[in-house]
Amino acid sequence: MCELVISGRRCLCGEVDIQGSKNAALPILAATLLTDKECVIHNCPRITDVEAAVEILRGLGARVSVDENTVCVCAANIDSNVIPKNLMERMRSSVMFLGAVLGRAGEAIICRPGGCRLGDRPIDMHINSLRRLGAKIEEAGDCIVCHLTETRSENITLLYPSVGATENIMLMCAASGSSVRIFNAAREPEIVDLQNFLNLMGARICGAGTDCIIIRPAGKFGGAEYTVMPDRIVASTYSYAVSACGGEAYLRGAEIEHMKLVFEVLKQVGTEVIKEDEGVRIAAFGRPKSLNMIKTLPYPGFPTDVQPFLSAALTIADGESRVCETIFNSRFGYTEDLKKMGAVIDGDNHTIEIKGVPALHGANVEAKDLRGGAALVIAAAAAEGITVVSNVEYINRGYENIERDLTRLGADILRI
Ligand code: EPU
Repeated sequence: MCELVISGRRCLCGEVDIQGSKNAALPILAATLLTDKECVIHNCPRITDVEAAVEILRGLGARVSVDENTVCVCAANIDSNVIPKNLMERMRSSVMFLGAVLGRAGEAIICRPGGCRLGDRPIDMHINSLRRLGAKIEEAGDCIVCHLTETRSENITLLYPSVGATENIMLMCAASGSSVRIFNAAREPEIVDLQNFLNLMGARICGAGTDCIIIRPAGKFGGAEYTVMPDRIVASTYSYAVSACGGEAYLRGAEIEHMKLVFEVLKQVGTEVIKEDEGVRIAAFGRPKSLNMIKTLPYPGFPTDVQPFLSAALTIADGESRVCETIFNSRFGYTEDLKKMGAVIDGDNHTIEIKGVPALHGANVEAKDLRGGAALVIAAAAAEGITVVSNVEYINRGYENIERDLTRLGADILRI
């Protein structure tokens, strides 16, 4: 069990490199199953969710080597289509392997995926869409048994632009001989990254980044060498950390095009955002300004994953703010720990009201999910005194080394 010991109230100044995107790397690693040729994936973050994906690939029979941020996968000899319960439960994105294994082997047996404690996370849209596209899926308790008996050309309209369901359809259909259109598709940049990788392997997909994705019949897939996009949620973490702590930081690799609303909101709370050649410079002086109302929405709306970082900064804003969560039904768990640090927050699972205080104080707090845990680190870096954040295992799922990065910016953080 790891803890972060953070001595707060230091300005954040300096430069940091933004790691590769977790939510792009995971479906891309699943996609490597669609070819028997070697794939080389650069800029893969060294995080525990990627380790879990590598274990799943190896468990299915793929040969995988990892060298720093480069993962080589050769899925020439796939000898299993079963993903065991212990691996499925290690991360929510294990569900991505359903579409990929079905697309490759025509059969898959998985368990319901695990994930963060963000509330109910059903996979009904994944299952219903894959069924419409020709998969026979039987659910027996926690076990899901799937056979791809035919591939159908269909138009699928998602009831909600689910990121995972959109990716699963792309993965199952990319290498099949059918024509599929996904309406109301998720528009996240990570979906564009998956499309780019699949097309490099030989797929014929267009429209990612819009709400209509078109998948056309493709020939046999080859290998591909690809560099994963920068992690816009990690870049957001450090941007809001600067907003809360004050200072000036250069985030090398942050992609401003992926983060328009994240940066617009930062500007509204009084933080400067300056686009530079290879990244973004963030500067903040004094307390953040309060925000009348912000609501999380699917991309290009304000990301649910960034909501905890914004709330952490708003705890010390110069007034009252309201934050509304519309994507997950239990994503304010971290606010109980912010209150231990002196934050004044009221509300329910849907909307919270934050009364800004001049400063937070150190406390013993516990990460309960990945992004909520990172929000506690931001709050601790801005607070007076010493904070101990426990359950750092959650944070390791998505950050290569949050203390290394924040220490580079001048924070005082020790992992014990
Ligand atoms: N939903 C359903 N049924 C489904 C699928 C989704 O009801 O079949 C609901 C979910 O319960 C949730 C909403 O739809 O309320 C959105 O879920 P979505 O499927 O879009 O999310 P996801 O694919 O499970 C990805 C990211 C999350 C990010 C969300 C929203 C990955 C690996 N995960 O999850 O990232 O919060 O999209 O943008 O891409 C994180 O990185 O910390 C993280 C949680």
